[in-house]
Amino acid sequence: MVENAEQPAYPVGLRLAGRRVVVIGGGQVAQRRLPALIAAGADITLVSPSATPSVEAMAEAGEIRWERRRYEEGDLADTWYALVATTDREANARASAEAERTRTWCVRADDAEAATAWTPATGRIEGVTVAVLTGTDPRRSAAVRDAIVEGLRDGTLAAPQHRARAPFVALVGGGPGDPDLITVRGRRLLAEADVVIADRLGPRDLLDELPPHVEVIDAAKIPYGRFMAQEAINNALIDHAKRGRSVVRLKGGDPFVFGRGMEEAQALAEAGIACTVVPGISSSISVPGAAGIPVTHRGVAHEFTVVSGHVAPDDPRSLVDWASLARLRGTLVILMGVDKIGKIAEALIAHGKDPATPLALVQEGTTAAQRRVDATLATVAETVRAQDVRPPAVIVIGEVVREAPDKHAG
Ligand SMILES: C[S@@+](CC[C@H](N)C(=O)[O-])C[C@H]1O[C@@H](n2cnc3c(N)ncnc32)[C@H](O)[C@@H]1O
Repeated sequence: MVENAEQPAYPVGLRLAGRRVVVIGGGQVAQRRLPALIAAGADITLVSPSATPSVEAMAEAGEIRWERRRYEEGDLADTWYALVATTDREANARASAEAERTRTWCVRADDAEAATAWTPATGRIEGVTVAVLTGTDPRRSAAVRDAIVEGLRDGTLAAPQHRARAPFVALVGGGPGDPDLITVRGRRLLAEADVVIADRLGPRDLLDELPPHVEVIDAAKIPYGRFMAQEAINNALIDHAKRGRSVVRLKGGDPFVFGRGMEEAQALAEAGIACTVVPGISSSISVPGAAGIPVTHRGVAHEFTVVSGHVAPDDPRSLVDWASLARLRGTLVILMGVDKIGKIAEALIAHGKDPATPLALVQEGTTAAQRRVDATLATVAETVRAQDVRPPAVIVIGEVVREAPDKHAG
C-alpha cells in the first residue's frame, strides 16, 4: 500500500454474511460494487429513487432489497457497512455524518477524504483474494491488482501452495490458434501441468511459455506401433495420469467439436481416471468471425449448421444428409472440408442449392497467416486449386458471406 504515508489504511477482510449493509444510490458505483457484496452474502438494502437496469435486475432476482426513495436520516440504523454513492453531494454528506455517529464503516464515492473506509481493487483466483489500496489512485490499484492476478494465473508470479495440489487430468479446448483465445481456466491449468499433450492445431505459441520442467508431447508424434494413433494418445494420457502427474490434453477449438474429446474422456473413465473438460472457442464460429463473417445475421440466417467434410458425400461411410442440408436456408459451416469441397459443392447443387450461393474459405484463422478466399458453389473447386487453399480452413456457405465482403479482394 502506498497511500497517505503517515496514516496508511488498516487492511481487513469483512465477513458480511447475513449482516446489514446499506447502499445509498443506485447508479454505476452501486452496480460495480453490489456483485461482491452479494457474493459475500451480505443482507443488502439499496436506498435510491432510481437504479441502473443491472441494479434493478439484482432487486428483481431478490439479491438485494430496494427501497425506492431518497436517503432519510435513520437509514443506517443497525448497519455494519455502508456505501454512499448518490449524485447529490448534500445527501452523501448527511449519510456519511450519520455513519460517523452510528460508528458504521462508510465508503463515500464522491469524497475519499470524508470516507471512513476505502474499497480496494480486488481480484480472486483459486481461493486467494487479492486486494490493493493505493489511496487516491484507483487506476494504479487496478493495475497492480491485474498484475498480481495475471501473474498468479499464468504462473509467472510464483506462490507455492503449502498444501500439495492433487494431480489432475484436463481436456482443454485451446481455441482456434490465437493464444489470447484460450479460456482463463484453460490457461491456468496449462500453467499447472507437468505434462502437456498438444495437437497441431490450437494455440501452439502458449507451449513456448511453459517452464522447462514441463514435458510437452506432440500428439502427432506419439509412436503408436500396432495401436491406432488415437489409442496411443489415450494410452499416453492414462500412463502419465497413473504416474501421478498433472496432464493437460491441449486441443484445438473445443474438445467436443470434431475433437475426439469424448473418446479420450471415455478411455480415461474406463481406466478409472477422472478428467475435467474445459470448453474452448470452436473454430466453427470464431474463424468465420475473425474474417468478418457472422454465422447468423438478423433477416438473413436464423440457423447455422456445422458439418464435417472429411468424408465425400458419395462415400458410404458418410453420416451427413447432404440432401437435407441443401434445403436449409441458413449458414453451412464445413470443417475439414478443403480436400472434398468440389464434391460437396456438386452434391449441394445436385440437391437443389443455387450454384451462385456465396461461400468463403478461411485458412489458418486467427493466426498471423490468416487468409480468406471467396467463391461460389459453382466456382469453389477451381478457386481452391487456383488459389492453393490448404487445410486448416473453415468453409462458410450462405448469404452471410455477402454481408461481410472480403476487404482484401481485388
Ligand atoms: C479435427 S477438427 C477440430 C475442430 C476443433 N475441435 C474446433 O472446435 O475448432 C480440425 C478442423 O477445424 C478447422 N480449424 C481449426 N482451427 C482452424 C483455424 N485456425 N483456421 C481454420 N480452420 C481451423 C479446420 O476445418 C480443421 O480441418
